[in-house]
Amino acid sequence: MPELFTWEFASDPYPAYAWLREHAPVHRTTLPSGVEAWLVTRYADARQALADQRLSKNPDHHDEPSHAKGKTGIPGERKADLMTHLLNIDPPDHTRLRRLVSKAFTPRTVAEFAPRVQELTDDLIDRFAAKGEADLIHDFAFPLPIYAICDLLGVPREDQDDFRDWAGMMIRHGGGPRGGVARSVKKMRGYLAELIRRKRSDPGDDLISGLIRASDDGEHLTENEAAAMAFILLFAGFETTVNLIGNGTYALITHPDQRERLQRALAEGDAGLLATGVEELLRFDGPVELATWRFATEPLTIGGRSIATGDPVLVVLAAADRDPARFADPDALDLSRRDNQHLGYGHGIHYCLGAPLARLEGQTALGTLLTRLPDLRLAQDPADLRWRGGLIMRGLRTLPVEFTPERT
Ligand code: HEM
Repeated sequence: MPELFTWEFASDPYPAYAWLREHAPVHRTTLPSGVEAWLVTRYADARQALADQRLSKNPDHHDEPSHAKGKTGIPGERKADLMTHLLNIDPPDHTRLRRLVSKAFTPRTVAEFAPRVQELTDDLIDRFAAKGEADLIHDFAFPLPIYAICDLLGVPREDQDDFRDWAGMMIRHGGGPRGGVARSVKKMRGYLAELIRRKRSDPGDDLISGLIRASDDGEHLTENEAAAMAFILLFAGFETTVNLIGNGTYALITHPDQRERLQRALAEGDAGLLATGVEELLRFDGPVELATWRFATEPLTIGGRSIATGDPVLVVLAAADRDPARFADPDALDLSRRDNQHLGYGHGIHYCLGAPLARLEGQTALGTLLTRLPDLRLAQDPADLRWRGGLIMRGLRTLPVEFTPERT
């Protein structure tokens, strides 16, 4: 039985997941927080569990022992009263809120945002392109999604660096000390509540104004729901996208044949391989290692194991997406992989609402980076790279690179 949740595991969890898939596909384990939970690692079981309505997203269904109270959700969320967000609720509330937000956050909203994402990407690369070196997490993958979401929501530019700092606190300490994180969440929430009040009297062409306007049969989001929605868009869309860019760039740099293929395609103006490639990068080493928490509302079985009422169930997306029963040669990176129905964005009613935006950001970031800095290479031995040891997300702390400086 391989050891889980160690540093070695954080840098490469895939061998342990292969073992679990084969020998203990639905496995009860004690998490570093002390909470006991089931890990579901096979693709077929994972897909079924993600869509199973008997598995609730509402943490009130968890019979958690008192020492584990509050260790299953977003840090500080209980205190900050942000419980009414999509990832913590079930139908019928989920259905109503998701319908309302989908009216404001449409694929068209995202498509219209494409030029701005390109501009942000180029601006960030401009800042380090002449230096010949960068830390791609700090200088690129981290700021891009936060500025993009702030712009989309309608946070004025002069306030966006505050968001960058609060988000930085959350990403650095996500699995660790809670004090600073709770304070950042509180500040963000206070800011969003104030912004919502401002936009209500002075609406603009942005997502927050859209959320306030959105109505369904005359029904609107309450102020608290709109604030929680803005917060979950930031929270769910930030670290995930940082890691898509970080893990994706790392995978491309360490698979030179695939990277050259992609660079050839980009040079020929063929964007098809970039689109299938970003999907493959999500499957191969996606940002969300484990789907967010689910709790059994009644006794059920998954993969032949009996799950009791109140038990937490964690679906291991990273394990399911390397399941040889579903994907041919699953440990190989193949940017043109067909039949690639990966679970990187989840499945069922909680399927990622931001997938169109994530795709846009991922494709723009990776495509532009490889085009502008074609000889991008690691400036550090891969064995020395540090991965964040959080439970839900998988991503690098830093990604130092070198390249031929761009001439201005
Ligand atoms: C849900 C992945 C980017 C907003 C999810 C879920 C996954 C996921 C796996 C389902 C979690 C579960 O069922 O437990 C990703 C990945 C991203 C990404 C891999 C980047 C590559 C974004 C972005 C946004 C976003 C950019 C918005 C700005 C959401 C929301 C939900 C969600 C609101 C909850 C949907 C619901 O419960 O109905 N995402 N996400 N995500 N995502 Fe994303």
